[in-house]
Amino acid sequence: MDKVIDYINVNRERYLEELKALLAIPSISALPAHAGDVKRCAEWCADEMRRIGLENVRLIETPGNPVVYGDWLGAPGAPTMLFYGHYDVQPVDPLDLWESPPFEATVRDGEIYARGSADDKGQVFMHFKAIEAHLKQQGRLPVNIKVILEGEEEVGSVNLDQFVSAHKADLGADVVVISDSPMFARGIPSICYGLRGLVYFQIDLRGSRTDLHSGSFGGAVANPALVLSQILAQMKDRGGRIKIPGFYDDVVPLKEEERQAWASLPFNEKQYKKDFGIPKVQGETGYTTLERTWARPTFEVNGLLSGFTGEGAKTVLPAVAMAKVSMRLVPNQDPDKIAKLFEDYVVDVAPKTVDVKVTRMHGGKPWMTSYNNPYVQAAGRAIEKGFGQKPVYTREGGSIPVVSTFQEELGLPSVLFGVGLPDENAHAPNEKLDVGNFHNGIIASAILYDELSKAV
Ligand code: BES
Ligand code: MN
Ligand code: MN
Repeated sequence: MDKVIDYINVNRERYLEELKALLAIPSISALPAHAGDVKRCAEWCADEMRRIGLENVRLIETPGNPVVYGDWLGAPGAPTMLFYGHYDVQPVDPLDLWESPPFEATVRDGEIYARGSADDKGQVFMHFKAIEAHLKQQGRLPVNIKVILEGEEEVGSVNLDQFVSAHKADLGADVVVISDSPMFARGIPSICYGLRGLVYFQIDLRGSRTDLHSGSFGGAVANPALVLSQILAQMKDRGGRIKIPGFYDDVVPLKEEERQAWASLPFNEKQYKKDFGIPKVQGETGYTTLERTWARPTFEVNGLLSGFTGEGAKTVLPAVAMAKVSMRLVPNQDPDKIAKLFEDYVVDVAPKTVDVKVTRMHGGKPWMTSYNNPYVQAAGRAIEKGFGQKPVYTREGGSIPVVSTFQEELGLPSVLFGVGLPDENAHAPNEKLDVGNFHNGIIASAILYDELSKAV
């Protein structure tokens, strides 16, 4: 391993320059105008995978964006690791809040700033460089590796379940490795053993054919903006509990052991409020902030649109109102079941004075694994060597839809080893990745492959 680590240390600067080229491609999967960039990014990744020595590299078409595949299977008898990551990124708006252009990666104060730096290109690239170091120095890897990169994670992985089912035989492995999450805190590396799931909806209300004069009609005709607010206000009670009947039926309660472990993590609520400009935290009664985000489901309004929002005042009764809403789910809530409960509840609470349309959008299942599994323990040893510190075990509030698919369809456990930070600004302006974490992450990944080969 020493030769491999020396190689990584010597090439530290080159890695950063190469990563900048990947970060320059605006592979925004949500925006049709960037379809060409998404494709170009898939090709860039495929070329890079060939350069680092992976074999059988190719783009596999899906009804949406291509999956990039590559492998190295020269370690008979050793375990096979399936590496998953995504090459698509989120949109960059509001652009004026970026301190440097989102697709011109810039290093400032030890952080590399660009869309995709943390989520997920930087973390995918970290594994590319770890693979390269092994192959260039030793001519081999300690494990067999299959790589799949997705181009639709940020739009809900809508074609990936189908892809996994169709390629079941080709994707055979022993363990999945993913680096697409933040670590617990600066200086505190972590392994994530649970993710929340998601169901997402658009609600459209119509109260009249066109906007109306609020003097002539106000009082007699429903106001969709107000009705929508009233519907949304009925989603949670004062204790922060979701009021949709049956919503909590399948929720796995937090284990006392987990609660104790999380309570001893160095989480500082005062600092949390300060870091994110939060006047006061809130949430479901009886749970801490970490418990609320990692282990409890929630309902959120992601966006609202109605009526006059320009300068000045306009006396109008809007004809329509729209909301984008989503629910984060925890084990063992099922997105399909929750979706049905939600739709029924909206119909139930909506008055007859408006037409209501509920449209389901993307989503994914929640996921959780045991942190006693040998591959997770192997990752723990690798992180300790790479970062000079034992990792803590966390769950996360975010979602990666395919993780539960790997478990259910392929029977594979996943190891989630992320090197982002809670303040990485993922999906927001000024997304960044700590350059030191990127470097240590390459070393830890290189060691991880070695530890996985000895795990079982
Ligand atoms: N990398 C994130 C998932 C994530 C975020 C994991 C925070 C752990 C902590 C991923 O790219 C993402 O943003 N997922 C979406 C999924 C959705 C579009 C189905 C999410 O969580 O909103
Ligand atoms: Mn991601
Ligand atoms: Mn994301």
